[in-house]
Amino acid sequence: MGIWITHGTDAHGAPLAIQIEGDKIAQCTHEPVTPAQRAGHTHIDAGGRLLSAGFLDMHVHLREPGLSHKESIATGTLAAARGGFTTVACMPNTVPVLDDAAIVQQLQAKIAAEAHVRVLPYGCITIGQKGAVRTDFAALKAAGVIGFTDDGVGVQSSAMMQEAMVEAHHVDMPIVAHCEDDALAKPHGAAVTLGTYAQRHGLPGISNASEAIHIARDALLAEQTHVHYHVCHVSTEQSVRHIRFAKAHGVRITAEVCPHHLLLCDEDIPDVWDGAWKMNPPLRTKRDVEAMVAAVDDGTIDCIVTDHAPHAAAEKALPIGQAPFGIVGLETAFPLLYTHFVRTGRWTLSFLLERMTAIPARIFRQPTGRLAVGAPADLTIVDVQHPHTIDVNTFASKGRSSPFQGWSCYGWPVWTMVAGRVVWQDDAF
Ligand code: DOR
Ligand code: ZN
Ligand code: ZN
Repeated sequence: MGIWITHGTDAHGAPLAIQIEGDKIAQCTHEPVTPAQRAGHTHIDAGGRLLSAGFLDMHVHLREPGLSHKESIATGTLAAARGGFTTVACMPNTVPVLDDAAIVQQLQAKIAAEAHVRVLPYGCITIGQKGAVRTDFAALKAAGVIGFTDDGVGVQSSAMMQEAMVEAHHVDMPIVAHCEDDALAKPHGAAVTLGTYAQRHGLPGISNASEAIHIARDALLAEQTHVHYHVCHVSTEQSVRHIRFAKAHGVRITAEVCPHHLLLCDEDIPDVWDGAWKMNPPLRTKRDVEAMVAAVDDGTIDCIVTDHAPHAAAEKALPIGQAPFGIVGLETAFPLLYTHFVRTGRWTLSFLLERMTAIPARIFRQPTGRLAVGAPADLTIVDVQHPHTIDVNTFASKGRSSPFQGWSCYGWPVWTMVAGRVVWQDDAF
C-alpha cells in the first residue's frame, strides 16, 4: 500500500499528483486521479498548493557534536523540515571538529537516531581547522562525508590548499571553501563590511578583497589540480568576476550564495546595533548585492544555501565586536526568495526551485532534488497564497537571530516528506 498526493501544482502552475511506493516516487501525473485509482492508498490532498521536490541546503551549521546549546541535530533538522528542506549538509566546525573518521561515525549514528531530514556531513580539510596538517581524506570519505571544508575559517596557506586539492581530486571529492584571507579580513573586532555603515559609525570594517583573493588563488590551483572546487557564500562583486572568469576558462568551479547577500546591504543595518546583523561574510554594499543577483541570473552562481549559523541569544547579545558571526536561515529562505524574486517577476518559480533542488543535488551528486519515477520520495508542499510575518519566536531552531524579523512573506512550506515519511506538517494544513 502506497501514498497518493493529489491536487498539487507544479512549478509551471500545471496540476500534479504523485504516487509513492515505499521510499520512492512511483508515478508523477498531470491527469486527475480518480478515487478508484487511489483505493487502498493513503491519500494526501495538497489543496492546489505547490508540490515540489524537497529543497537541499548544502551549507548549514547543526552544532553537534559539542555545541548543542546553540542547535542540535533534532532542532536544526526540524527547522529544515519547516523550511521545506529534505537534505542539509552540515559544516564540520563543531567541538570536536569533524577532522577524524571516528568522530564522523559517531555523528552519523546521532543523525540516524535523531534527524528529521537527511543530513550529509562535511569533513575538515585540516586537523583542528588550524590550516597546518591535512586530514585523512580517504578515511573521512569512507565515513560518509560529501566533501572537505574548513568552513568558519579560510585555508591560509596556498601550499596547503594545493595539497588538499590534489588529494581531494585523488579521492574524487569536492573542496568547499570559506574564502577569507586573515591578513586582510578582520581588524580586531570588525563586525561589518568596510563601507558606509562602518564609516558612519566609526567602526573597523571587513575587507571585500579578502574574499576574492582566496577565490582567485584557488581557481588557479583548481585549474592545475582538476579538482571540483565549490565556493561558499559568495558576497562580493569582485568574487563574482573571478568565478565568471574561471568558469569561462573551464575550471571545475561551482558557487553558492545566501538569501541575506541577495536581499540586504550594509546600509540596511539599523543605527541601533543588533547582533542579528552580524554574519561572516558580512552584508556588503548595494553594488555587491546587485552583482550577486546578476550572478544568479547568468549562472555564475549555481545554487542558493542559507549558511544557517545559530548561536545562543546571550552570545548574540554581546557588544558588536564580541558577538559571534552567524544568523539563522532555514525557516525563512524559501519565503524570502519566493516573495522577493518570484512574486516580483525577476525569476520564474522553476528557476528558483532548480537552484534549491536539482542544481545542488547535481553538484553534490545526490539522487534527490527531482520529481522523477524511481527518485527518493523527498517532497514539500508550499502555500504561495497566504502571507505570514516572519517571527523568530516561532522558530524550531534554537537560533533566533534573523535580520528578517517582521518581514511579511508569501511561500510558506506547510508539509514535508523525506523518503516517503511525513516529517513535518503545519497545523493549518
Ligand atoms: O556567519 C558565520 N557563521 N560565518 C562563518 O564563517 C561561521 C559561521 C558559524 O559557524 O557560526
Ligand atoms: Zn563560512
Ligand atoms: Zn558556514
